[in-house]
Amino acid sequence: MAKKQKFAKESAVTMTEMVLPNDTNTLNNLMGGRLMHWMDIVSAIAAQKHSNRVVVTASVDNISFRKPIKLGNVVSLKAQVTRAFSSSMEVFIEVTAEDIPANKRYTCNSAFFTFVAVDQSGRPIDVPEVVPETEEEKEHYAGALRRRQLRLVLAKRMKPAEATELKALFENLEPLKED
Ligand SMILES: CC(C)(COP(=O)(O)OP(=O)(O)OC[C@H]1O[C@@H](n2cnc3c(N)ncnc32)[C@H](O)[C@@H]1OP(=O)(O)O)[C@@H](O)C(=O)NCCC(=O)NCCS
Repeated sequence: MAKKQKFAKESAVTMTEMVLPNDTNTLNNLMGGRLMHWMDIVSAIAAQKHSNRVVVTASVDNISFRKPIKLGNVVSLKAQVTRAFSSSMEVFIEVTAEDIPANKRYTCNSAFFTFVAVDQSGRPIDVPEVVPETEEEKEHYAGALRRRQLRLVLAKRMKPAEATELKALFENLEPLKED
C-alpha cells in the first residue's frame, strides 16, 4: 500500500518566548540549556503535526550559539519537518531574536533534530512521507538523507561503508585550487 503523504508546510510551527530573569545566566543572556529546551518542544510539536503520533527525540545535531540573546528579547523558534523515513523525521529549527524597543532582529542559530513516532508501547511506527514544495524545502529534503547517514554512523547504527550519500559528497568535492 502506498504511504500517506503530507506537505512539509503542514508541520510548520512558530513558538514565541520572552527572555525573563529566570531564563538567563549571570551575564543576563539566555542560557543555552533553556534555548535547547524550547527547540526540543517546538520541533516535537512539528513532528507530532506531521505524524499525528506521540514522538520521542532520537538525536540532536550540532548546535552552536552564534550570538547571545539578551534579557527582555523576544525569541521566535520556527520548526518544520524536512523529511520522513520509516518512523523517523528530521526537523529543521531556526531561531531569531528581537529587541523590540530597539527595532532590531537577528538570526541566532539553527539546528536539525530527529524524532521517532512511537505507538502506545513505545515501539517505532511508520509516518507519512514529506512532500517538499519550495526551493528551501526541496534543498532540506535532498540533504536530509546525507545528514541521516552521518548521524547514524556517529551513533554506530550504520557502517561507514553503507553511508553511500555521505561518501558521494566527499568523492564529488572539487580539489582545492593552488595559487
Ligand atoms: C528512538 C528510539 C524509539 C529508537 O528505538 P529502536 O528500538 O532503536 O528502533 P529502531 O532501531 O527500529 O529505529 C527506529 C528509528 O529511529 C532512528 N534512530 C534511532 N537512533 C537514532 C539516532 N541516534 N539518530 C537518528 N535516528 C535514530 C532509526 O534510524 C529508525 O529510523 P527509521 O524508522 O526512519 O528508519 C529509542 O531508542 C528510544 O525510545 N530512545 C529514547 C528516546 C527518548 O526518551 N528521548 C528523550 C531523551 S530524554
